Amino acid sequence: MVRISLSSKIYISLLFSGLTPLIIISLLLIPLIDNIDTRLLYNISMIMIATILSTALISRFLSLHIAEPIDRLINSVKKMEAGKFEPVSAKTGDDLDILIDAFNSMGREVTKVIKNLKELDEAKTQFLSVTSHELRTPMTPIKAQLQMLLKEHLGGLTDKQRKSLEMIERNTERLDRLLQELLTISRIQSGRLKLIPKKQPLKEVVEETVSFMKPFAGKKNIDIEKEMEEVPEIEFDRDKIIEVIQNLISNAVKFTPEDGKIVVSLKRYGNGAMIAVKDNGIGLSEEDCKNVFKPFFQTDEWRSRQVGGAGLGLAICKGIVEAHGGEIRCESKPNKGTTFSFYLPPKIREKIELSQEEVVAGRVEGFFTE
Ligand SMILES: Nc1ncnc2c1ncn2[C@@H]1O[C@H](COP(=O)(O)OP(=O)(O)OP(=O)(O)O)[C@@H](O)[C@H]1O
Ligand SMILES: [Mg+2]
Repeated sequence: MVRISLSSKIYISLLFSGLTPLIIISLLLIPLIDNIDTRLLYNISMIMIATILSTALISRFLSLHIAEPIDRLINSVKKMEAGKFEPVSAKTGDDLDILIDAFNSMGREVTKVIKNLKELDEAKTQFLSVTSHELRTPMTPIKAQLQMLLKEHLGGLTDKQRKSLEMIERNTERLDRLLQELLTISRIQSGRLKLIPKKQPLKEVVEETVSFMKPFAGKKNIDIEKEMEEVPEIEFDRDKIIEVIQNLISNAVKFTPEDGKIVVSLKRYGNGAMIAVKDNGIGLSEEDCKNVFKPFFQTDEWRSRQVGGAGLGLAICKGIVEAHGGEIRCESKPNKGTTFSFYLPPKIREKIELSQEEVVAGRVEGFFTE
């Protein structure tokens, strides 16, 4: 739709409302023109010309002094909506000035607050990145010394000493994982997550990861089924995608009771691929499903503490998938189960092209939890 500015609208409407009576008078005068005295006709014409000129001038004046400043205000509001503040530079010498001044000072305040928030966010990301990196550095020698002690290179161990060292080792691993997660999340948040992309088959990667995770699920007698479709080779970072699938399976195992079932599927999705991890576990509410990708979000802190974790896994998954140009989704029903699925485009950050049927269906079979 063609948008006409407020000032042009006012100008045109004032001009028309001024000219309409003149046109009507002229139309009424035409049949009488032969009977009117030439002098009177001259005077009428002069009055008409003067009226036209003054109408044009008044309309221009009003549009310049009232409508144009409002137009500028509207433009600034639009720019502010898009995240860029530009003060309105108009002085009308009336009440409109109060509105313009209020808008300008509000804009300056909002800009200041946004700048402060950005600085604070950058400082937080920097702090997260430096601390997790610095805290991780001593982990390597600690782990090496622990291994030497456990392998009895530094002397024999009593049963009590071994148990104690094994406990230290477990907790060191946990701490190391958490620091690694913090480092990854800080990289994602600062846009410094590096991918090592390579065009390669995805099927083997999914199958290998499922095999690697099977013993972990087996501890809870949970079966992991595979539904594998042939998909074309696509470009992705192998280690990072393995991390995503491991995180999703690990969650599915954590939040599914014993003897449950997990289905990992790989399907063609447009000219890319779709991977889904579906469980029949405790499920999530609609609201929680929207929030699970936020860092540190856990639906039930107590339960999550019991099963371990800091609430970073899914935020990392989202960061990795989006860095590839894909999208991750959560579908769930409380007490029924959850499906986390993500698609990857054929090339990093390339736009995915869906087939007509996929567009019409708006969903891919097996994508959602029944
Ligand atoms: N398959 C699932 N079923 C039910 N709830 C889930 C599932 N996956 C994740 N959640 C919920 O989402 C929260 C966030 O998951 P996320 O993987 O980010 O963190 P975490 O598993 O608690 O810890 P971390 O992954 O950092 O070890 C979990 O704590 C849990 O409440
Ligand atoms: Mg997790």
